[in-house]
Amino acid sequence: MPTHKIAPSILAADFGNLERDISMINQSESDWLHIDIMDGVFVPNISYGQAITKRMGQLCDKPLDVHLMIMQPERYIEQFRDAGAEVITVHYEACTHLHRNLQQIKATGAKAGVALNPHTNVELLEDVLEDLDMVCLMSVNPGFGGQKFIYRTINKIQKLRSMIDERNLNVDIEIDGGVGLQNAEAILKAGANVLVAGSSVFKSEDPIATVKRLKAIGSDNF
Ligand code: DX5
Ligand code: ZN
Repeated sequence: MPTHKIAPSILAADFGNLERDISMINQSESDWLHIDIMDGVFVPNISYGQAITKRMGQLCDKPLDVHLMIMQPERYIEQFRDAGAEVITVHYEACTHLHRNLQQIKATGAKAGVALNPHTNVELLEDVLEDLDMVCLMSVNPGFGGQKFIYRTINKIQKLRSMIDERNLNVDIEIDGGVGLQNAEAILKAGANVLVAGSSVFKSEDPIATVKRLKAIGSDNF
């Protein structure tokens, strides 16, 4: 199994102790820090914006993986890049001109990702796959942390992995929502290579050890 990345989601952190929790991420084997931006329109929840993202980026040694759950994300792409995003992901369902939005992300120098809600078929990406660095498959309905993993996502991962491999592309498959030690192995075996983990890391007794265990899946130390 190729090496995979772990991207803890700061949505599950203690917002009164962001500096402490980000320093924990810095000490861990996490590869990225996943930052969920919610506008209260595309999703029912509101989280944080560019100013907090920028401060988190200054505190964090790991690349920022910014997940935009907002309508018309083209209004904010440059601002999130300026705030330190290395990867910027927009939702398929929130973009009328997805191809243009992906070029806009790449023009900032960031990696371009597209997220799909649980009901959105991976085949809809056929005509933009070449333009992507990452596909984020939502394994819960976006808007909240701590939800239950939708098992059907496993089929979507397998289908998307075949689409990517048939074309010989280098596109990451990220899984977001309800991911933890109980299902990470099945997710990776299906063909994903980036695991977002919010509650399963931050609400665990020893977050650093949990990241280590998630990272070790598939290796001899597991
Ligand atoms: C959900 C967010 C997720 C969330 C995952 O809308 O996109 O990134 O933080 O949280 P858990 O891992 O708790 O399901
Ligand atoms: Zn997310």
